[in-house]
Amino acid sequence: MASRKNCELFLVASLTLTLVLINLVEANPDGDALYALRQSLSDPDHVLESWDPNLVTPCTWFHVSCNQDQRVTRVDLGNSNLSGHIAPELGNLEQLQFLELYKNNIQGTIPSELGNLKNLISFDLYNNNLTGNIPTSLVKLTSLVFFRVNDNRLTGSVPTELRKIPSIKVFDVRNNDLCGPIPTEGPFEYIPLENFENNPRLEGPELLGLASYDTNCN
Ligand SMILES: *[C@@H]1O[C@H](CO)[C@@H](O)[C@H](O)[C@H]1NC(C)=O
Ligand SMILES: *[C@@H]1O[C@H](CO)[C@@H](O)[C@H](O)[C@H]1NC(C)=O
Repeated sequence: MASRKNCELFLVASLTLTLVLINLVEANPDGDALYALRQSLSDPDHVLESWDPNLVTPCTWFHVSCNQDQRVTRVDLGNSNLSGHIAPELGNLEQLQFLELYKNNIQGTIPSELGNLKNLISFDLYNNNLTGNIPTSLVKLTSLVFFRVNDNRLTGSVPTELRKIPSIKVFDVRNNDLCGPIPTEGPFEYIPLENFENNPRLEGPELLGLASYDTNCN
């Protein structure tokens, strides 16, 4: 009888422990998002070695900064010899303000999920090997100040919706393969044209007030 009771107690204890562990895992969405990024990147210089998903938060990992609530606010991985691609899970970092992935050799597309980073101030992906479009979902980044994706292989148009983000101060897309008109309204009024240079298919400042602007831009 006693051993049966022990057995029941053991089962209850294990079940409780399992539930607690599941809770801990679920309570660490930022760590999960960053670990997905680690797995999508190739890291020959081992800059991501401290990114251990078994820790309760990612706040002690190198190249990661958190606020007082233990939520990730900065990812600093510029100039780190990284290749691979950007995991869409990165869009789950709700409190992220600074995304610094410049000067690597990251390929693939900019995930549209990054439009969910509604607290983002700095979007720095310049000097990589990114392809595809600048996602229109980025119009949701209403705190954005710095947007630098220059020196990649991006195609498609500059989403004119971005003119609805008045906080933009620095916008650089030079040295890509973008096409279509250059937006001129809203924050673009103050962005110098040289920040659009070396996109052979870009067609110059958009002609405001014209009903249609014929572009060969897909
Ligand atoms: C970058 O990584 C490559 C391997 O992919 C290696 O050969 C090279 O030495 C690394 N460069 C630096 C500056 O660490
Ligand atoms: C960019 O990626 C392509 C493969 O998609 C590769 O051939 C090329 O060497 C890469 N560019 C750089 C600068 O590494």
